[in-house]
Amino acid sequence: MKKSDVVKEILAGRRGSANPVGQAEAPANIALCKYWGKRNEELNLPITSSLSLTLDHVGARTEISQCSSGDQIFLSGERLDSDHPFANRLSRYLDLFRQGDEGYCVKTESSVPVAAGLASSASGFAATVKALDALYGWKLGSRELSILARLGSGSACRSLYSGFVEWHVGEREDGMDSYAEPLELQWPEIRLGWILVSTAHKPVGSREAMRRTRESSPLYQSWPAQVARDLAEIKAALSLRDFTRLGETVEANALAMHATMMAAQPAILYWLPDTVAVLHQVADARRQGVSVYATMDAGPNVKILYQARDQDRVVERFPQISFLCG
Ligand code: DP6
Repeated sequence: MKKSDVVKEILAGRRGSANPVGQAEAPANIALCKYWGKRNEELNLPITSSLSLTLDHVGARTEISQCSSGDQIFLSGERLDSDHPFANRLSRYLDLFRQGDEGYCVKTESSVPVAAGLASSASGFAATVKALDALYGWKLGSRELSILARLGSGSACRSLYSGFVEWHVGEREDGMDSYAEPLELQWPEIRLGWILVSTAHKPVGSREAMRRTRESSPLYQSWPAQVARDLAEIKAALSLRDFTRLGETVEANALAMHATMMAAQPAILYWLPDTVAVLHQVADARRQGVSVYATMDAGPNVKILYQARDQDRVVERFPQISFLCG
């Protein structure tokens, strides 16, 4: 099954009234239990479920209109060449929605550095699909938007909602049961901060890194079982408001994901010396009684998880912190 078949099925019978411009915003999200590995690369269908926390104040804003002379893609006010990786990826995604040979003018502002392992593609594709929905007046529901966003980037399916969000692995071949939904719980004291190590582009994109890990890492065999355990632990910790249980599982899950990549051939090592230094700082802080835990995505930057009541002590220990959530 192709992406275009999924789009056709979702848009069947949706004949909204097109508007001159569609505009939307979508937040970034950080996985607490990671998505790493696809069972279907065309549709971005995952091997496991995953769970994230939405960063309400960080994300992308996108404006889309139709234009006659091919696609024109602007990122933070700058027009990108059509062979720029971001423009190219977006144009291939937009191909799924063209009704004729029209082009699109897309203006995107992102408050996170693109391709630095900070979930920029998640908020970018979620904002794009919402802007298309507004442009064409389809009035799709969140589940359908989540599935369409997944076709752009897997983690984007979680950027349709606030709070804690679970992406269900699903089992259908067409992926119609692989979408995200918010958990019905709030924990407003949770904080996520970001320790910037580098904003350089990733040496290996997450798509290629996932493929290589799955195909060549002997440690990947144990990943699905680990995710099943971690997801259950994280959900239990969230419902009991047990921060230690949450933090320990979140950190272990991220480290295990990186371990699977490091064992791939050739190895994928996103960590830089400062990544390791921050991880030691986090462990030191815990030894001295500050309850803080680390997580990392496909890049060298470290996100730290803590509670509002520890804010001052965290800022004292990590003066370089930027706040992502809370
Ligand atoms: C490590 O969603 O960027 O951040 O589906 O290939 O676009 P594609 O991958 P992407 O991968 C995110 C991987 C991760 C973990 C996560 O967000 O769950």
